[in-house]
Amino acid sequence: MPAYPERRLESARLRLRPPTPDDVGALMALAGEWEVVKYTVRMPHPYTQADGEAWVAAAHAPDTAHRPFAIELKTRGTFIGAIGLTETDGAPEVGYWIGRPYWNQGYASEALATLIDHAFGALGLGRLVARAVLANRASHRVLEKCGFVRGRETVELAPARGVRRAVVWYELTRPAGARA
Ligand SMILES: CC(C)(COP(=O)(O)OP(=O)(O)OC[C@H]1O[C@@H](n2cnc3c(N)ncnc32)[C@H](O)[C@@H]1OP(=O)(O)O)[C@@H](O)C(=O)NCCC(=O)NCCS
Repeated sequence: MPAYPERRLESARLRLRPPTPDDVGALMALAGEWEVVKYTVRMPHPYTQADGEAWVAAAHAPDTAHRPFAIELKTRGTFIGAIGLTETDGAPEVGYWIGRPYWNQGYASEALATLIDHAFGALGLGRLVARAVLANRASHRVLEKCGFVRGRETVELAPARGVRRAVVWYELTRPAGARA
């Protein structure tokens, strides 16, 4: 996984930037909702201040394979969620969440499109993978809107949830001729 050469990305409405300790309050309020974490693999529930602080600290660790961005609204600087890449079996995997008050306004799709451009551009990656719980229809839609191609279904353990569940894998390959 290459290092992030640029840690501040912008789209029409959003800024993707490194998380800071100032995000922890909003992070706890938004990530504290079960509806937000229930389909995720790693987000704890309940989501404590210590969880938020650990997430921010891990984002800045020099050797981390987790490279999350905080997502904020450009207009007000409001923290609304997070997105990033982790490494799964050698492949960069995208993950994201948006706080419930901000759902269905296109923010996840906008943030993911921005991360994809960054991954295929500055980071020089050739392929991204993603996984969504079968029942998580909003996430399937986000991935499809961003061009991910639906692949196999597997049953996986979600460590933070303590259950096995059906997930659908997606992948996106850098278009031929795109800037590496
Ligand atoms: C999945 C999630 C990130 C989507 O965020 P968002 O900002 O609302 O996403 P967008 O607005 O960009 O797109 C959502 C799309 O899903 C659609 N959608 C929402 N709920 C849906 C449902 N129950 N069934 C089908 N489609 C649904 C929306 O209509 C929209 O599609 P459209 O633009 O064609 O109308 C957000 O719901 C979330 O954070 N969920 C909890 C965490 C999570 O699941 N993360 C992903 C793990 S793989």
